[in-house]
Amino acid sequence: MDKIVKYYMAPLESVTTWIYRQAHAKIYGRLDKYFIPFLEPHEKRDFKTRELQEILPEHNEGIYAVPQILTNKADGFIRIGRALKDYGYQEVNLNLGCPSKTVVTKGKGSGFLAFPEELDRFLDEIFEALGSELKLSVKTRIGKERPEEFPRLLEIFNHYPLEELIIHPRVQTDGYKNHPRMEMYDLAAKESKNPICYNGDLFNQEKLEKFQRERPFDDWQGISHESGTSPSGNRTERILGISRSGLSRLSGTGSGWLPKRAI
Ligand SMILES: Cc1cc2nc3c(=O)[nH]c(=O)nc-3n(C[C@H](O)[C@H](O)[C@H](O)COP(=O)(O)O)c2cc1C
Repeated sequence: MDKIVKYYMAPLESVTTWIYRQAHAKIYGRLDKYFIPFLEPHEKRDFKTRELQEILPEHNEGIYAVPQILTNKADGFIRIGRALKDYGYQEVNLNLGCPSKTVVTKGKGSGFLAFPEELDRFLDEIFEALGSELKLSVKTRIGKERPEEFPRLLEIFNHYPLEELIIHPRVQTDGYKNHPRMEMYDLAAKESKNPICYNGDLFNQEKLEKFQRERPFDDWQGISHESGTSPSGNRTERILGISRSGLSRLSGTGSGWLPKRAI
């Protein structure tokens, strides 16, 4: 069986706009997925004008785009999820990673990780309502304050048939500082019942090669998916989310380092 590495564009709010996504795809070639920076539920309407520009199908033509939702309210998530389905989307992603203070103090983004039982109920409600209509994926940090929070969170994610679990292995209080806590990603590689995607600090070819060298594909493929509970069964895929690296690529400082198949 072929071993495939997939590359996703991670979302950067107000940077990876639809124009950026389309320009990047045209200049560097199409990546496997493009995550749309987060949308939030609103009281009176589904989408603000700026958000609508991001999700319009004609602005995402030719690429596999996944809208992301930032909320801790299941009813809001379900409402936006249905509206996105009406626009033709097959998959939506929950943001459990945003470290910004204004978001976190409201218990959203990585702030939601401090409330595992509420998160479990939230996931239960959204899967009950949308699980048969849409693929649901999660982008998460490994905790609010401490990496040791992650095993409990992983146990919760394992209760649900996620399309994939994207892991940025920092805690909220790291912001984008410190180093990704690779031991927690490796734990997920062993214990996750869902397909996982790595995200964080893969800025250049050297870092990408180091990642691949330290996690040989043959070791990797046996682990997280052997239980057969993963939606895709025994996978021979490795998935890597890139984002800030995309910026350096577009500005020319890091261009051309992704393997040809990805670009
Ligand atoms: C300016 C900025 C905006 C971001 N916006 C989002 C967002 O809307 N949704 C999200 O899940 N992550 C967001 N992120 C996080 C990135 O998607 C990514 O997880 C992070 O940059 C780490 O990956 P990298 O080291 O490859 O850049 C943002 C990061 C930055 C720096």
